[in-house]
Amino acid sequence: MSKRYYVTTPIYYVNDDPHIGHAYTTLACDALARFKRLDGFEVKFLTGTDEHGQKVAKSAAAAGIDTREFTDKVSRNFRDLADFMNYSHDDFIRTTEERHIRSSQAIWRRLIDNGEIYLDTYAGWYAVRDEAFYTGDELTTDADGNKVAPSGAEVEWVEEPSYFFRLSAWRDRLLEFYDANPDFILPKTRRNEVVSFVSGGLHDLSVSRTTFKWGVPVPGDEDHIMYVWLDALTNYITALGFPETETGEYATFWPADLHMVGKDILRFHAVYWPAFLMGAGLEPPRRVFAHGWWTNEGQKISKSLGNIIDPVKLVDKYGLDQVRYFLLREVPFGNDGDFTHQAMVNRMNGELANDYGNLGQRVLSMINKNCGGRVPERGALTGDDEGLLESAHGLIGRVGDAMEAQAFHEGLEAVWAVVRAANAYVDGQAPWKLAKEDPARMGTVLCVLAETIRHLAILTQPFMPDSSARLLDQLAVPEDARAFACLGPDHALKAGTELPIPEGVFPRYENGEKAEEGD
Ligand code: MSP
Repeated sequence: MSKRYYVTTPIYYVNDDPHIGHAYTTLACDALARFKRLDGFEVKFLTGTDEHGQKVAKSAAAAGIDTREFTDKVSRNFRDLADFMNYSHDDFIRTTEERHIRSSQAIWRRLIDNGEIYLDTYAGWYAVRDEAFYTGDELTTDADGNKVAPSGAEVEWVEEPSYFFRLSAWRDRLLEFYDANPDFILPKTRRNEVVSFVSGGLHDLSVSRTTFKWGVPVPGDEDHIMYVWLDALTNYITALGFPETETGEYATFWPADLHMVGKDILRFHAVYWPAFLMGAGLEPPRRVFAHGWWTNEGQKISKSLGNIIDPVKLVDKYGLDQVRYFLLREVPFGNDGDFTHQAMVNRMNGELANDYGNLGQRVLSMINKNCGGRVPERGALTGDDEGLLESAHGLIGRVGDAMEAQAFHEGLEAVWAVVRAANAYVDGQAPWKLAKEDPARMGTVLCVLAETIRHLAILTQPFMPDSSARLLDQLAVPEDARAFACLGPDHALKAGTELPIPEGVFPRYENGEKAEEGD
């Protein structure tokens, strides 16, 4: 197995401002990318914006701004959010870039050359909000008597000349592919939905439009632009330098290890995309993971309800790492989740301030006060000492397994099991009593604890990069000794190492605001 990892977010439509849903998808990828880098992998982490299609063109028109100017502006908001959330992406792609036009046209030519695309006429339903075609029997009627897509999006009747991709011919090959790659679609329930959808038979897919111009021109037939999803999906290989496939990043990083998506866009990624790729003679990705959706205090999040959660406001209120932790800890990844102020505060005060923060603060303060601010000597270890250290040493395996399955909540739960065990150990050993009775034993206890915290702080880096770094600073762990390879005993804290004056890392939320750090 090569130590390389390629993870992608969906590229976001630039029709609107970024909200919690976008922040969530990218956050999950960021935690994975950081984890893999710390684990010694060469990582490529891609995000970006999806800028073509009717939806974006209509939003620009509604804003009364030139489409290109509009996409520049909104795309910039997504880049700003990515920086603000401390995402560690290696590339930010925009589908209006030249490299992407070239790559989309190249995949089109491959599909033409392989006889996968033919010209006909599309007559059917289209939902601009979903940028998706629907058959009549997929639609329902809403309270006002309008036909709507399964997502609730309005549909319109479209009749125009169109190129088609021979998707119907891919049913059996897709089913074989899912069969041979049981973890291609996760979670399992989503996989079952896709398999049953494909088993039911597929229609050929319209892959070009002629009634508007905001898109990638179809090579050789400039009356058509490419269907926005064919253009958008291709971003994942554009960023690797496609159409160059023999050398460069495509040769190194493709097939992608993971396309992270929301459940609403799974079909595009797990059905159309592998079919396009195989049709073009290219390998499909290794995995598509579909995560769930957030609601806000029990309500569906929507612009019309006015309950959009702005990630910037959330972070201003609770703190960046607090929000990152909450989003990845609160719900089993893959399930839907409900955002409530109370749940956010409970996690922030309970697990971060009381459990983790307090552990660090009490241990470091005792070292500062009783050991002259230096890592104490370690004497002979008792069974309790060894028990705690062993659970800390075993963490990387447990967190690694969870990350491999995109089970962030389980990874964090494994870390917190050790946080709780360490707090129980502090209470049981009562080092403040030992200070007078048996200072040497106190030194051993604090040393075991400091070493445990070193493990915890190294392992929480992917989730809470800033706070973990501050904890590692307080343990005087050098920057080049924070990777997982340094978890071993060779890098254990050395007796006599001088530690900085400890300060609290995880503030509490009290009386409507973040409390002073330090307790
Ligand atoms: N442009 C397409 C993706 C093309 S990928 C080749 C698109 N963009 S989007 O901006 O509409 O949505 C991006 C992501 O945000 C999706 O993964 C979607 O699931 C996610 N979310 C949007 N609202 C959400 C919530 N309320 N909760 C969680 N995620 C949600 O689709």
